[in-house]
Amino acid sequence: MNDSFNSKVKTQRSVSMSTLLLIVCGVWWTVTVDSQSCPSPCYCRPPGQVFCNGTGISEIPDNIPTDTKILYIGDNPIHEIKKGSLLKLVNLNALDASGARLKEGSIEPGALDLPSLTDVDLSMTDYTTIPKVLPKIMDTFRMMQGNLKTIQSDSFNLYPKIVYLDLSNNEISKIQPGAFDPLVAMTTLYIGFNKLTDASVPWPPNAFSKCRSINSIDFRFNQMQSILNDIPTCIQHLCYVGNQIKTLPSFGFKDLVNLQTLAFWQGQVETIEDNAFHGLDKLTLLDFMQDHIKSTLTNNTFVGLSSVDTLYLDLNNISHIEPGALYPLKSMGSLWLQSNQLSTLKPEVLDTSHLTKLNTLFIDSNPWNCDCNLRWLREKMDHAPYVIQDPHLIVCSGPPKVAGKAWDELKPSDFVCNEE
Ligand SMILES: *[C@@H]1O[C@H](CO)[C@@H](O)[C@H](O)[C@H]1NC(C)=O
Ligand SMILES: *[C@@H]1O[C@H](CO)[C@@H](O)[C@H](O)[C@H]1NC(C)=O
Ligand SMILES: *[C@@H]1O[C@H](CO)[C@@H](O)[C@H](O)[C@H]1NC(C)=O
Repeated sequence: MNDSFNSKVKTQRSVSMSTLLLIVCGVWWTVTVDSQSCPSPCYCRPPGQVFCNGTGISEIPDNIPTDTKILYIGDNPIHEIKKGSLLKLVNLNALDASGARLKEGSIEPGALDLPSLTDVDLSMTDYTTIPKVLPKIMDTFRMMQGNLKTIQSDSFNLYPKIVYLDLSNNEISKIQPGAFDPLVAMTTLYIGFNKLTDASVPWPPNAFSKCRSINSIDFRFNQMQSILNDIPTCIQHLCYVGNQIKTLPSFGFKDLVNLQTLAFWQGQVETIEDNAFHGLDKLTLLDFMQDHIKSTLTNNTFVGLSSVDTLYLDLNNISHIEPGALYPLKSMGSLWLQSNQLSTLKPEVLDTSHLTKLNTLFIDSNPWNCDCNLRWLREKMDHAPYVIQDPHLIVCSGPPKVAGKAWDELKPSDFVCNEE
């Protein structure tokens, strides 16, 4: 409210200022009005932002200042963008039409061919395909919360300059062969919250093979059951969060030598096969929070992960960790193991001559059997190079004498076996 009030006051001031200038110099009058007046009912914020969104307009105002760089026209009953309606806006960089009532045929060919327009947002519109009338120089395109079902082979043929593409929250269930091939400059793809299954991507796998610049792909909350085989080797961030992948196969990521983060949280991962992460030497973050991992963590589970700093394994079903399982994680600083099915752990598992960087350990909410075999870990709580977090939440399930007791109310000497 205050902002729009102020903007009206400013507009009046600039008009009366311009009137003065008119008296002094006719040329200045034109320039000043053109670049500073704000079309009603929009709100303008210098430098160059014009907010006509959510104002109820059904047509784009024809007196938008020519120095406009960012124009918001969304959340309005605008049904068409005519060729003439934006042509004066030679400085326009970004057009946000999200929530406008646009569909196939709504944008007249040429209407968006402006010399500076590189960023277009058509989210929440009624399009069911990628329009062919977008700027060919476009580097940023968003079409979120829409009705896309299929990405067609020629969807992006006209847009080889796209760097950032966000197609989240559509109903995409099919990516036709070669659809992403033109996107040689793309670095970031968001295609989360769609309906992608294993059958959605072309076979033989080549959906992304031509994307030479891609560094981040986000597949979150689709219905994929396997990891993709043809992710380009330049990828740095890969997100399979919330999918239906149950097994991570041996050597499944072997070519992704540049990968830095890999996330599977809130998924259905049950089994990590030996050597699954082989080759991921640059990975620093690996996240399995809230999966269903029940496979034993073996000496070969984490082979190849020499740079991982943070490993999230919390909220899983892990009950067995082989003594050398964590040794390949030479750089690991924090390990999240809370809310699993661990009842005991051998001292070798956390051997700090292998885990030299370990500084933070979460182990609460496991059914710990607090007998003499686990005493060493309670001792570590008092003096270890790493901090065991939340001791009041680390509760013993047994033996009966200490069941229900938290580790901050027990001493190491309370961890005893029958014969003691
Ligand atoms: C217009 O869009 C901007 C940027 O997204 C937003 O902050 C603003 O609240 C919107 N205005 C209206 C009236 O919806
Ligand atoms: C762990 O396994 C049990 C028994 O199979 C199952 O009932 C439970 O839902 C699983 N929990 C998780 C987090 O996977
Ligand atoms: C796993 O590694 C530990 C420590 O190096 C070793 O003692 C153990 O025998 C290994 N286990 C297997 C099954 O190879």
